[in-house]
Amino acid sequence: MSTASQTEDTPWFLSGNYAPVMDERTDLDLRVTGQIPRELRGLYVRNTPNPKDGKGSHWFFGDGMVHGVRLEDGKAAWYRNRYVKTVKLERGLDAMDPAVMMDRTASAANTHIIGHAGKILALEEGHFPYELTGELETKGCLDYEGKLQSAFTAHPKLCPETNELHFFGYGQLPPYLVYHVLDTNGALVHSAEIEVPGPTMMHDFMITRDHAIFMDLPVTFDIEKAMRGEVPIGWDDDYGARIGILPRFGNNEDIRWFEVNPCYVFHPLNAFVDGSKVVCDVGRHESMWRGSMDDFEPSYLHRWTFDLASGSVQEEPLDDVSHGFPRVDDRVVGLKHRYGWVAGSRPGAEPGMDAPGVITRYDVEKGSSESHDFGATAQPGEFVFVPRSETAAEDDGWAMGYVYDKATNSSDLVILDAANPAADPVAVVHLPRRVPHGFHGSWIQD
Ligand SMILES: [Fe+2]
Repeated sequence: MSTASQTEDTPWFLSGNYAPVMDERTDLDLRVTGQIPRELRGLYVRNTPNPKDGKGSHWFFGDGMVHGVRLEDGKAAWYRNRYVKTVKLERGLDAMDPAVMMDRTASAANTHIIGHAGKILALEEGHFPYELTGELETKGCLDYEGKLQSAFTAHPKLCPETNELHFFGYGQLPPYLVYHVLDTNGALVHSAEIEVPGPTMMHDFMITRDHAIFMDLPVTFDIEKAMRGEVPIGWDDDYGARIGILPRFGNNEDIRWFEVNPCYVFHPLNAFVDGSKVVCDVGRHESMWRGSMDDFEPSYLHRWTFDLASGSVQEEPLDDVSHGFPRVDDRVVGLKHRYGWVAGSRPGAEPGMDAPGVITRYDVEKGSSESHDFGATAQPGEFVFVPRSETAAEDDGWAMGYVYDKATNSSDLVILDAANPAADPVAVVHLPRRVPHGFHGSWIQD
């Protein structure tokens, strides 16, 4: 049996394809429809919450399980799924256990997985990273020679020009926000405490060629609620909403804050400098968790433009179709982008956590979009862009990600032509079993 038992009372995040899978598998030489491009030599890997005991109080809290497919020589060499063997997993701790809150090694390690400086890191925003091998076995927890004194976000930004990894950590107790940089060798070379009015949930951030950008938005933590055993996180009408723009490697005295209309952003698409302006394209939620953690407003592509010369702020909606999991080509992170890839709603489908979806490629220069529809019962997750070569154009390559089909209760790794996303896939790797809905992943080229 690969699925935890389900009843009518099973919450949505433990039902259907949100339900965990219970075994770790290794399957070799997978069946493929189409032709895997020979330029693709590496590992596609995605992280997914997968509670080991089949229980839990929220989708976000499940133990991290990574699902990877190795591509080489035009073949899908293997599929592997592995738990990230963290202190939390091995001790069977609940995410709300005070031991998990206080111990930076007790990560769920369930949110993202990235490659940097020859290491593969499984990330979750409240704790330290865990390093994995290329075959997804856990090597151990990283604390950067004891220098890292805050959590490590699940959404660091790798500068494509310098190979530095810019990141931050937030805390429910002071310091509420710390900015960090790993150099190209993976050494922690900069840490600066940034003053904010209180503890917020800061899920992601942005860089430009010149800046680190922090989103201080009104989803706040309330320690007193936590002490009373209530859900300690939610929307706060009194907190306000500010974006902090800091020169790279800057300190608190260097930051400039700009007020924006209150909203929440889990995921930006990208940011870049345009003359005196900083342009941020983000997935904007009108609010988040206003009454309870079941209140989840959809997100829409939105542009903030901050003029560092005049101090002005402009806001502009870019689309009226909701989306999740925005990504750009990793080579333009912090630089001007033309294309963005998102998981969108299927036209005519009721939005919701169990809705069928499409993958959409935005062209923000033209103000247009094109979508790939996988069918009425298909649910794609995040897709990542992979260039054909290091110097290929921003649409010359492929977009890939896992797609679950409710009709067959199975998952594929689907590879789309980035220049023609609506066309039939270039290749479909048929996986030996379903991959539960999850969060973020990466293509790690050899
Ligand atoms: Fe995320």
